[in-house]
Amino acid sequence: MHTPIDTEYLRTQLAKRRDARLEPLRAHGLRPSAEPTITWVGDLQQGDGGKGAMTDRLAAQHQVVVRVQGGDNAGHTTVFRASDGVDTVLKNHLLPSGMRRPDVIGILANGVLINLERLDAELASFEAISPGIGGRLFVSGRAHLILPLHRSVDDRQEAAREGTGSEIGTTRRGIGPANVCKVNRIGLRVHDLADPTLIEKRIREAVEFFDLPKDEFERNVEWVLFHRQAALTREVDSARLIDDLVATNHSVLFEGAQGPLIDLEHGIYPYVTTSPTAVYSVGSGAGFPQQQIDHRIGVLKAYQTMVGNGAFVSEDLSELGQRLRAEGDEFGTTTGRQRRCGWLDLVQARWAIEVNRFTSVVITKLDVLDSFERIGVCVGYERDGELLVEFDAEHESLERCRPVFRYFDGWLEPTTSTSSFERLPLAAREFIAFIGEQLSVEIGAVTVGPRDTDILVRTGTSLDGLVAA
Ligand code: GDP
Ligand code: IMO
Ligand code: MG
Repeated sequence: MHTPIDTEYLRTQLAKRRDARLEPLRAHGLRPSAEPTITWVGDLQQGDGGKGAMTDRLAAQHQVVVRVQGGDNAGHTTVFRASDGVDTVLKNHLLPSGMRRPDVIGILANGVLINLERLDAELASFEAISPGIGGRLFVSGRAHLILPLHRSVDDRQEAAREGTGSEIGTTRRGIGPANVCKVNRIGLRVHDLADPTLIEKRIREAVEFFDLPKDEFERNVEWVLFHRQAALTREVDSARLIDDLVATNHSVLFEGAQGPLIDLEHGIYPYVTTSPTAVYSVGSGAGFPQQQIDHRIGVLKAYQTMVGNGAFVSEDLSELGQRLRAEGDEFGTTTGRQRRCGWLDLVQARWAIEVNRFTSVVITKLDVLDSFERIGVCVGYERDGELLVEFDAEHESLERCRPVFRYFDGWLEPTTSTSSFERLPLAAREFIAFIGEQLSVEIGAVTVGPRDTDILVRTGTSLDGLVAA
């Protein structure tokens, strides 16, 4: 029998489909917001600016947190006082930050690379802090997997480059090789896990492509079959689900990983990661148009760090760099490597704002500078006798640049217990005002410690009311 699809019928069917998609989230406490908003948190530097901590703070005002890109190369830290009064430190690599909060739903969208073993382990380790967290996590069927063979290839490549001067210094989490499979159309996705024949086909293709020993085939198939079930139970169409959430008045928070300096398209190639890291990743990695994001919040560490290789104009290889590392505890969350350190680079930060059009910037780790008598800020580059004020993300060119610093007097007093932004020491406020002027952007808040409460939101800015101070 022929059923005509009139507009009324179409609307009813689409509404039913939407309800069916939202139902599993409602079962985990999803409720609409009185003031729905859409937010993205990104970094202005290489990464490690405190996106995890910022996302966790913002999650209190959003119902859903979505990771859109990268994989477990990310390392995000959250510090908060648990219900027993004890300070708790959470380190997550794959789970969206903020999911420790019992009413926050997490989504890994299509652009995220997923290591299933890591995901299972992370969920298990968070269960004690946040009971039932596994039920609140949903995963895109289109997300690609990182297999053990991708990690072996990452290791093999980095080991082969050692001592040649061309090692990237990757996290060795298999990110690059997994993306190679993805773009070469031999990647395995969450959706494919339902089909054992396809699993074998894709793994065979990858083993051949990377010219790996034959036993890698069996090892990887076994690994996938062992881990696939939990992922399949979480599978969703994340692009549609995010549209549904927005259409039904939910506040959605997109959590960035890494930073623009290592963006595949815009970063210092080849010293980049292999994923998009700038705001456009919300479009590619979640299918959500970036123009509809209300708040693009950038974290800018009060000084500069880098882990891995690549040009770093304001890097300090002397005592100062070591002191910043010690005061800021600058050791990689993912690899434990020492982070390279130097004064804040405003030439680079201005470029990050061009790339991402941040609506507000949060200066993080201000307290790390509390004991410095003099604080430097890189305001320009000197290259072959020429003074430059525009950043050019080209390794060879940056290697020839020397930093031009402007110095500020330090405030030489602890800032962590400051009660409000306005009560920060005058010298600290001057330092912050200078950054805001040079970047032509709103400085909406500063953070003065790792805890969720260690944030000073500036009255009257776009973050006032969005972040509970
Ligand atoms: P992400 O990758 O951007 O999420 O940042 P990471 O978590 O890798 O690195 C930031 C580190 O600084 C973490 O150890 C945080 O706990 C810590 N942190 C964040 N904000 C502050 C702050 O304002 N002051 C201090 N002292 N530490 C902070
Ligand atoms: P979060 O989210 C800082 C760097 C690595 C290396 C380069 C390529 O915590 O800010 P990859 O393993 O991605 O192929 O390595 O990218 N890198 C990061 N640096 N923060 C991160 O994430 C990073 N993720 C990758 O050090 O230089
Ligand atoms: Mg990090």
